[in-house]
Amino acid sequence: MISPSLLSADFSDLKSEMQWFNGSTADWLHIDVMDGVFVPNISFGFPVLKHVAKICQKPLDVHLMIVQPEKFIEEVRDLGAHIMNVHYEACPHLHRVIGQIHEAGMKAGVTICPATPVSVLEDIVYDVDLVLVMSVNPGFGGQRFIPHSADKVRRLRKMIDSSGSNALIEVDGGINGDTGRIMKDAGADVLVAGSYIFGSPDPAARCAELSGLWK
Ligand code: DX5
Ligand code: ZN
Repeated sequence: MISPSLLSADFSDLKSEMQWFNGSTADWLHIDVMDGVFVPNISFGFPVLKHVAKICQKPLDVHLMIVQPEKFIEEVRDLGAHIMNVHYEACPHLHRVIGQIHEAGMKAGVTICPATPVSVLEDIVYDVDLVLVMSVNPGFGGQRFIPHSADKVRRLRKMIDSSGSNALIEVDGGINGDTGRIMKDAGADVLVAGSYIFGSPDPAARCAELSGLWK
């Protein structure tokens, strides 16, 4: 599956961006919320996202790069989000937060930064619907893919398959045609791509190219 990241969209023309997006092969819209505390950048907040949600016809894949993400479960639910991803590094009581997201009626994802080993997920992998592996340090679009991330995905694939969990593996950061193939072959189910898709003169073609990796 493909989840184009809104962070690289033209914010002065979101209507046109959503027009090609709605007609593309993209499966989800990836939405990066940043707070300037958990990551050294600020993106957009709920007042903006409300308008995007109205014109987006595909499921919203919300990636919260914020401290205390549990404070915003209602806001994310009110957007109509399909999945809410929180960072392992931002949640000392991750099991409780995952339960709260489920109670709000959404799928729950846990995200790990490049320096966080997949082994920390051993006791939560049964409870989540998705694991999001960052293949760059979170906070900015257009960064270079960290090659070691492929090995993390291979290890995570083994962990998930042997545990009987149904969690999907999503990867985020520096994804293009080449790194997308590497991550798909390593066992990823969902590719997030920002600059590779929105930075292209033909973003729908880039979506089709990445979707084609599964054909
Ligand atoms: C980075 C965000 C990503 C970002 C990816 O912190 O989580 O979703 O938009 O951008 P690219 O694909 O350009 O690396
Ligand atoms: Zn993201």
